[in-house]
Amino acid sequence: MDHLPIFMALHGKTALVVGDTPAADQRAGLLARTGASVRRIPSQAVVAADFVQVALAFVASGNRDLDRLVAGWARAAKVPVNVVDRPDLCDFIMPAIVDRDGVVAAISTGGASPTLARLLRERVEAALPARIGDLAKFAARFRTAAKGVGNRLRFWERTLDGPIGEMVLAGRGAEAEIAMRASLARGDDGQGVVHIVGAGPGDPELLTLRALRLLQRADVILHDDLVAPAILDYARRDAELVAVGKRKGRHSHKQDEINALIVEHARAGKRVVRLKGGDPFVFGRGGEELEHVRAAGIEAFVVPGITAALGCAAATGIPLTHRDLAQSVTFVTAHGRDGEPDIDWRAAARPGHTTVVYMGLSQAPRVRDRLLAAGTPLSLPVAIVDRGTRPDQRVSIGTVGSLAALAAQLAGGGPALIIIGEVAALGSAGLPAVLAEAS
Ligand SMILES: C[S@@+](CC[C@H](N)C(=O)[O-])C[C@H]1O[C@@H](n2cnc3c(N)ncnc32)[C@H](O)[C@@H]1O
Repeated sequence: MDHLPIFMALHGKTALVVGDTPAADQRAGLLARTGASVRRIPSQAVVAADFVQVALAFVASGNRDLDRLVAGWARAAKVPVNVVDRPDLCDFIMPAIVDRDGVVAAISTGGASPTLARLLRERVEAALPARIGDLAKFAARFRTAAKGVGNRLRFWERTLDGPIGEMVLAGRGAEAEIAMRASLARGDDGQGVVHIVGAGPGDPELLTLRALRLLQRADVILHDDLVAPAILDYARRDAELVAVGKRKGRHSHKQDEINALIVEHARAGKRVVRLKGGDPFVFGRGGEELEHVRAAGIEAFVVPGITAALGCAAATGIPLTHRDLAQSVTFVTAHGRDGEPDIDWRAAARPGHTTVVYMGLSQAPRVRDRLLAAGTPLSLPVAIVDRGTRPDQRVSIGTVGSLAALAAQLAGGGPALIIIGEVAALGSAGLPAVLAEAS
């Protein structure tokens, strides 16, 4: 490390900026945000006496000789100086800065590569929750009140990294305030937190930033079979991964067992992520799990994910609505609690409507029969998207008449969904694999 990273208090102190260049404007703007009293001196007016009683100086005259002369004056007056784009003349260098409402990260490569520093800054930007500044202010407000708590370090860790911190980060400040007062009154109860997180349809790039952050911090991840292995790679190395998959035909855990497991881990003080394919609230039983965890008195949050219908539509170029072809869309499931669900197939038969059938691959002949009975023309386009958004995605496009044959071609695959409606015919261009319509 060639430079010492420090954060300098400049409030009320004088900072000098020499030059009229855009770089000088940028430095002056930055200094103003610290509360410094910023003195701008044009290049042609600067003199050695300007450096008296100055805390810090930036020089960006745009003239190499003048830069050198002015840096010499600063040094003679013992004022730390930064000369823009002249590391050889600098007492200090400027980092790439992430400023989230008072929470500041400074990144430096020691001058080796400003571009690399900028790229790292983008990663830090993406990793920092948008409301991290609110969290810092929240902590500051309760600092005095928390002085009496027994194990203060642990208390703060659990507060900022637990349910209360999550409430602040989710913009639920008033709720966090109430929870914090209760937490201070009772001390640390050692309870964990549960996040019911949507993992999207498979492509890890489709995870939300919040899902990614929670995955990276979770102690325990209880995941469905549907969750792609590439997504689990984002878990911490020492996180406990528990497959609680409920894939068709082989229920490895019953829903009650899953509920009990979630609660057990949270009671042990763990940060639990219940990771579900797609979105937890779309045919995902996320609602039941949320109810169960909250009934057990444990803080629980839901993080939405890209549901399979949206992921598959985007990955195959099938717009679910379209100005000319579809003005409404319905998501239905071919599996209900007690067998066949009660679906209004007449809606699917209406012109200008798109229907997306989840869990329908093995039910394709029955779906076709219901559609035909409801008056759907044999020629209405359908698409089956198998393993949508994943590297081995397959797409099969045809009509209601050929639906069963198309499904038979994909038998043994899955997860897959069926898109029914005029828009399905648009889904052929640029696909990883398109099977011709079964004859
Ligand atoms: C139990 S549901 C879960 C749905 C999930 N919660 C969601 O929002 O996507 C499982 C069904 O979702 C559909 N599905 C999930 N991921 C898929 C994918 N990558 N490609 C196609 N269909 C998918 C299939 O119809 C599968 O049978």
